[in-house]
Amino acid sequence: MLETTDLRMHLDDLSEKKWTLIPIDQQLCLALHKCAITRLQMHQFRQAGLAAVQNVNDASLKIRNDEIFWLDAKAHELSDIETQTLAFLDNLRLEIKENLRVSLTEFECHFAFYDKGHYYQKHRDTTSANNKRVFSFVLYLNENWQDSDGGQLIGYEQQEVLFQIKPAIGNLILFRSDLEHEVMSTFRGRFSLTGWFRK
Ligand code: OGA
Ligand code: MN
Repeated sequence: MLETTDLRMHLDDLSEKKWTLIPIDQQLCLALHKCAITRLQMHQFRQAGLAAVQNVNDASLKIRNDEIFWLDAKAHELSDIETQTLAFLDNLRLEIKENLRVSLTEFECHFAFYDKGHYYQKHRDTTSANNKRVFSFVLYLNENWQDSDGGQLIGYEQQEVLFQIKPAIGNLILFRSDLEHEVMSTFRGRFSLTGWFRK
């Protein structure tokens, strides 16, 4: 699905800049978008938890309000496209592991849906309680996304903006899980496939 030389370039970026944006086949993303919509309509999404969040003293504080569906072949029957996507991601895990010489033994991922007005405030995906996550990825599934639709992902390093990504179909952002990041309020329903390569 990705040319090896392009992938090398992306992985160099990941190791040097701590993030990279990889373009993914539109047909695959459209098919995945359909899977996600169907699962949402079948009420298979659940309110996301706060497990990955650090420094939350007040549990009632709403730092995120997306809904998620874990793509777990043991828990649910998956479609061919979903299975194919998991195979692609596992291959990406192996490529990162070999090229960056890091230990990555597994990955996990879920669909996420942010309804109008939803967001995810500044956080890191690794915490002292959950330090297995090494790299985070988000594949966006939204057609015709406009700047005015909001919902950007912003990554920070020492309070400085490191990246700002539109959740437009085909964008796959891969970044170090210890980077601080946030999802700006969206003005439109926003779908993604989000996950983590773990050590
Ligand atoms: C997350 C997250 C980013 C996005 O789920 O931890 O940061 O753009 N998602 O959806
Ligand atoms: Mn995150």
